[in-house]
Amino acid sequence: MFKRGIGDTTDIVEKEMFVFDDKGGEKLALRPEGTASIVRAYIENKLYSSSNLSKYYYYGPMFRRERPQKGRFRQFTQVGVEVFGSNAPAVDAEVMKTMSEIFDKSGISNLVKLNINSLGCPDCRPDYRKKLISFLNSKRKNLCEDCKNRLEKNPLRVLDCKLESCKAEVVDAPLMIDNLCPTCFEHFEDVKGFLNHFGVNYEINPFMVRGLDYYVRTAFEFTTDFLGASNAVGGGGRYDGLIKTLGGPDIPGIGYAIGVDRLVALMMEKKVEIGKRLKVFIIFFKDTMEDGFYLIDKLRSENITTIFDYEIGSLKSQFKKADKSGADIAIIVGSDEKERGIYTIKNMRNGTQKEIKKELIINEIKNITSIGGI
Ligand code: HAM
Repeated sequence: MFKRGIGDTTDIVEKEMFVFDDKGGEKLALRPEGTASIVRAYIENKLYSSSNLSKYYYYGPMFRRERPQKGRFRQFTQVGVEVFGSNAPAVDAEVMKTMSEIFDKSGISNLVKLNINSLGCPDCRPDYRKKLISFLNSKRKNLCEDCKNRLEKNPLRVLDCKLESCKAEVVDAPLMIDNLCPTCFEHFEDVKGFLNHFGVNYEINPFMVRGLDYYVRTAFEFTTDFLGASNAVGGGGRYDGLIKTLGGPDIPGIGYAIGVDRLVALMMEKKVEIGKRLKVFIIFFKDTMEDGFYLIDKLRSENITTIFDYEIGSLKSQFKKADKSGADIAIIVGSDEKERGIYTIKNMRNGTQKEIKKELIINEIKNITSIGGI
């Protein structure tokens, strides 16, 4: 499945896949990526029969036998999305928009850059491929050994060789984006237009080819300058023929995967605080126990971190415990509050206090959470 899906002349399949025979003599591979597997599940379960457009996401470990270095591991984690059923350019743009939102929300958007390219289709790529091979043959003697091998088998890959010496040789190479057929040209124009509508910044990088052979038309990659040679934080593209190649109907698809290890490394680089949640301490007494537990339950059911004093001590000792626990807010449920149908909220950071009507408490706490704490 991976050989057919990703392509047998790709580095992933040729050099990096962990393949072995199990005790029953069956050939197994540790999955190097998720797309081919999702496509197989889609075909096997005939998921196309229930909906014209299907959107999936996945998260999990992947395995590639690469040389380990900063940001490059033999086991790493990807989170990915795949959309099946539409070849409309707006889908390409929306998919990239979701990816850029993930980087935004992770607080690293200024450390990454979106590169886009069009890789053409089975109509226009073969002619371009010939042009490229003849250009590369004229540069052959100056290319690295890997590129000499790629030249006939997978010439497009020569364009994104990381070696400076090869980069210098291909600066004048013919480019796919200058050789697109009218349909691919229009598709690429529309994708760029929709990206502008979505407010997503991008750069056209005609040398970006991606390491998997299933792509047609749109290919994209978010890169960074902060992770040494492992500069791709996530990438993807359109793969309209893949479902058919793997034995399913002719349904188009597009998707991407983000390298979670690299994303986290960037967040650490920028010291982005993750998982910081508001902590609420409920102060109540023996005579207001019912109200206290009711409120604890209500806040917890809203997924708000809520704690209280198991000893149900005096007001003073409960405040001390609230302080020690690192709570951001204390809510006092005393007999006076109970009688008046209110709660007293104390901001534990600056000591200010206010009263709030009982029925408004959840909203109040949610507002505080949504603006990122107090
Ligand atoms: P990929 O570019 O091979 O695409 O991998 C996606 C991301 O996984 C990379 O940008 C990188 O962040 C991360 N990654 C890859 N290899 C390693 C490694 N050895 N160590 C750490 N992180 C790594 C795919 O896998 C396609 N399946 C994406 C896709 C989905 N295209 C369409 N749908």
